[in-house]
Amino acid sequence: MGLLDGRKRSSSKSNSVEEITDPIEDVEVVIRDITHPQEDISSHREIKSYKEKNPVKRVVGQTKIIAIINQKGGVGKSTTAVNLAAALGELGKQVLLVDLDPQGNSSSGLGIEKSLVDRCIYDVILADCPIEDVIIPDICHGLDVVPATINLAGAEVELVSEMARENRLKDAVGTMRGKYDFILIDCPPSLGLLTVNALVAADKLLIPIQCEFYALEGVTKLLESMKRVKSRLNPTLDIYGVLLTMYDSRTTLSNQVVDEVKGYFGRIVFNTVIPRTVKLSEAPSFGQPITEYDPRGKGAIAYMELAKEVIERG
Ligand SMILES: Nc1ncnc2c1ncn2[C@@H]1O[C@H](COP(=O)(O)OP(=O)(O)OP(=O)(O)O)[C@@H](O)[C@H]1O
Ligand SMILES: [Mg+2]
Repeated sequence: MGLLDGRKRSSSKSNSVEEITDPIEDVEVVIRDITHPQEDISSHREIKSYKEKNPVKRVVGQTKIIAIINQKGGVGKSTTAVNLAAALGELGKQVLLVDLDPQGNSSSGLGIEKSLVDRCIYDVILADCPIEDVIIPDICHGLDVVPATINLAGAEVELVSEMARENRLKDAVGTMRGKYDFILIDCPPSLGLLTVNALVAADKLLIPIQCEFYALEGVTKLLESMKRVKSRLNPTLDIYGVLLTMYDSRTTLSNQVVDEVKGYFGRIVFNTVIPRTVKLSEAPSFGQPITEYDPRGKGAIAYMELAKEVIERG
């Protein structure tokens, strides 16, 4: 009988610890990561250094820094960060994806084994580590990643006593302007100091909204935070676009949410709507963006369409 047999297990997406709820005498408790149960070590990407990056054979245009933001949890921020970044890379753009969430979902969703990462965005923000030293290049075609590990969980607290605490990310990603067409920032589900750093660093915001009950819940608070940062720290900050995610054409609820969100935000809502598909939720377990995992499926088609819209918006 296996060590865990006959005992109750519990897990959640953000809590990757396998928890044993009924205590058993004298048995060594095994704690292991079950976030991606199907993954095997061979699906992990090679962790190269920025110096080993494949040369870019063209002149990169003006860099656009876009924060993918919504303090509401589970609305599709990381799914959008990973798949939009990969789709832009497929379309020939140079993209840097910055994982700013201690959960590190964008990093693991792209096959980065976080336990093999020495330094992450935490070291950039709090230990003056140059961003080049943490960039993992060529994760996919045209796509480099600044990973996040659990170390970042301490950043919210540690930032409080730091000088110029809101500008840390801006200073770091600013050094990468001119090297990428797009820098995407995957934000955590909160309005804490990490998110404020993203608001200060970004040129524009991409707000994913899930086609579900209470879709617009918290949006006013997000817009207030944006306005506060805009008036004091980042005057050109604006909304780049609002993205409807997890749309299910079979439900009237999804259609109602589309109408409600379009009524609220108007033309800044992207024409592309991301459908709810199992493939999109499976792909991170294999460390692949949807453009690799299921390139012909409707999830990949939607994110490629979104990438084209993003390029058109300029
Ligand atoms: N279009 C989709 N179809 C099906 N499942 C999806 C879709 N988009 C996201 N998901 C799933 O929904 C869950 C939440 O998505 P995701 O992690 O991208 O949200 P998030 O906003 O980044 O969450 P958090 O706030 O915790 O960072 C994940 O399990 C993801 O696989
Ligand atoms: Mg996320």
